Amino acid sequence: MTILVTGGAGFIGSNFVLDWLAQSHEKVVTLDALTYAGNRENLASLKGDERHHFVHGDIGDRALLDQLLATHQPRAILHFAAESHVDRSIHGPGAFIKTNVEGTFTLLEAARTYWSGLSEDIKGDFRFLHVSTDEVYGSLAPDAPAFTETHPYEPNSPYSASKAASDHLVRAWHHTYGLPVLTTNCSNNYGPFHFPEKLIPLMIVNALAGKPLPVYGDGQQIRDWLYVKDHCSAIRTVLARGRVGETYNVGGWNEKANVDIVQTVCALLDELRPSAEGPYARLITYVKDRPGHDRRYAIDARKIERELGWRPAETFETGIRKTVQWYLDHPDWVARVQSGAYRDWIETQYA
Ligand code: NAD
Ligand code: DAU
Repeated sequence: MTILVTGGAGFIGSNFVLDWLAQSHEKVVTLDALTYAGNRENLASLKGDERHHFVHGDIGDRALLDQLLATHQPRAILHFAAESHVDRSIHGPGAFIKTNVEGTFTLLEAARTYWSGLSEDIKGDFRFLHVSTDEVYGSLAPDAPAFTETHPYEPNSPYSASKAASDHLVRAWHHTYGLPVLTTNCSNNYGPFHFPEKLIPLMIVNALAGKPLPVYGDGQQIRDWLYVKDHCSAIRTVLARGRVGETYNVGGWNEKANVDIVQTVCALLDELRPSAEGPYARLITYVKDRPGHDRRYAIDARKIERELGWRPAETFETGIRKTVQWYLDHPDWVARVQSGAYRDWIETQYA
């Protein structure tokens, strides 16, 4: 048996592939275009492992998809590949439409053709699992209940609009063509291999370099944080037991204001790698807000718990400590990421 993972060299995809192969002998084919966010080094520990096959390619390349599906005959496609950074979507939305909307469309069409040709005895077991985000639901008022799976879609950024569009395509391919799909809408992840342009890894690497810690606006925006390995376990659970055509919200029950996240990172660094210059919180700098910045996200993850028995294993306190320690233990990974296209981006964004 084989699974096909798109975007498996990115942050969540690489954690998923590593976790999968740590728990299963089932072969993984990783398809990744290696954009600025894709890093083969994330999968370096799989070098020589015959259960893993890496393909450098684009989900928008139909001929490649057809060839991969015919050759490897996967029993499931796990679709992580996306442009994923909200700030980048504000500067350049085109890439988000191309990959998240058109790319997902091409992948769905390739999956439909492949699935239609499967024999009846295995057709029913095939799954297309679409990895999506809580951002499709838009922004919550401070006292509003958390997002359930029936919350209206109100995306506010080019990124979330492109993910919402992809969710709708996935839904339509199920209802119209019968493709056996599953969709997960997850909150903010953090953990190993997180590209250091997103909040938590950016704060860790900037603090260690003695650089400012840029907090957008008043820093009171709220996100619901989930340790990445808990997201991976949720996806495995939905793949194994999720009801076809359903969506499952995944979250950590961890609503925190951005500035509190930054303060927590600073306090952990003060403990684990104290600076001679004084507490890291001295570096916190309030900067111009993100245009259209959503104020609050919160996930109601009761459906996946009730139906599939999934709950996160980590608390925020345990997960963030592991994360900070991982970055302290992997300065070479950080240095190599920073020497690439990442640098140009930082200059554009914070100039
Ligand atoms: P990421 O940006 O770290 O990784 C994306 C990966 O997709 C990269 O390896 C990149 O090279 C690859 N990719 C991009 N365009 C491609 C294309 N056209 N063809 C093939 N590969 C391509 O993203 P991430 O944070 O790991 O997010 C993975 C998925 O999870 C995304 O779909 C995202 O929307 C979703 N998600 C992310 C979070 C989060 O907090 N990071 C939360 C919920 C959902
Ligand atoms: O909610 C799920 C989403 O979480 C995913 O779908 C996205 O792919 C993922 O990137 C993430 O989106 P966010 O926009 O929430 O993540 P980011 O790390 O960019 O920002 C988190 C919060 O921190 C957000 O409110 C903006 C703020 N922020 C971010 C950066 C990079 C800052 O205040 N300063 C910063 O420098």
